[in-house]
Amino acid sequence: MKYCYMEPDILINFKHYENAVGYNVEKLLQDFESLDSQNGVYYCLSPLDLRLQREFPDLKIYGQHVDSNGFGAFTGSISMESMKGIGINGSLLNHSERRIPSVEINKTVKRSLDMDFKIVLCVENLDEVKKYSVLEPEYIAYEPPELIGGDISVSSAKPDIIEKAAKICDGKTKLLVGAGVKNRHDVETSMDLGAAGVLIASGIIRNAKPINMLVSLMGNR
Ligand code: G3P
Repeated sequence: MKYCYMEPDILINFKHYENAVGYNVEKLLQDFESLDSQNGVYYCLSPLDLRLQREFPDLKIYGQHVDSNGFGAFTGSISMESMKGIGINGSLLNHSERRIPSVEINKTVKRSLDMDFKIVLCVENLDEVKKYSVLEPEYIAYEPPELIGGDISVSSAKPDIIEKAAKICDGKTKLLVGAGVKNRHDVETSMDLGAAGVLIASGIIRNAKPINMLVSLMGNR
């Protein structure tokens, strides 16, 4: 297996874990702020907490979902405009726990390209990689739903799919992989298979020392 020397992109999905929303998230972000380098690290927060971008200007905060509409009569919306207004320039879309119809995915990704807003488009299988990579979002994040939140990492359970997905993305859109990622070995294996990095939640957020886990996943940089 070849070893990949590039730095991985690490996107942390805070989901709606109790220690990662509301007042609790501020403590986590203070810890993460102490990293020597924030290169390639993105923090995907609950919509309630996105305004913390103002308090943590050195952190790259992303959303967990974004809508295709702009400003207007759209109750409950999270628009790219409102996120950009508070300094946020990207978001997850179509996460396994927040799936949206294909027509919405198309509309949102197309609009994001005009808005210079980065979409991390989550998909569950190779058919979806094929279907959506042509839209050329910033990232495609492949996460097999059955492995999410578990202890078996996508890189050990589905290495062949990661390799195929990387070929389909072909450098036009960056590939992330996620589900069950727990250590640096999982990150390096994913990158050897052609991923640009990982999308991770419980491995960091549910760890007793989230900052230590993030440092060890980042490797030497
Ligand atoms: O978005 C990341 C997520 O779905 C993977 O979750 O807990 O397996 O790292 P986890």
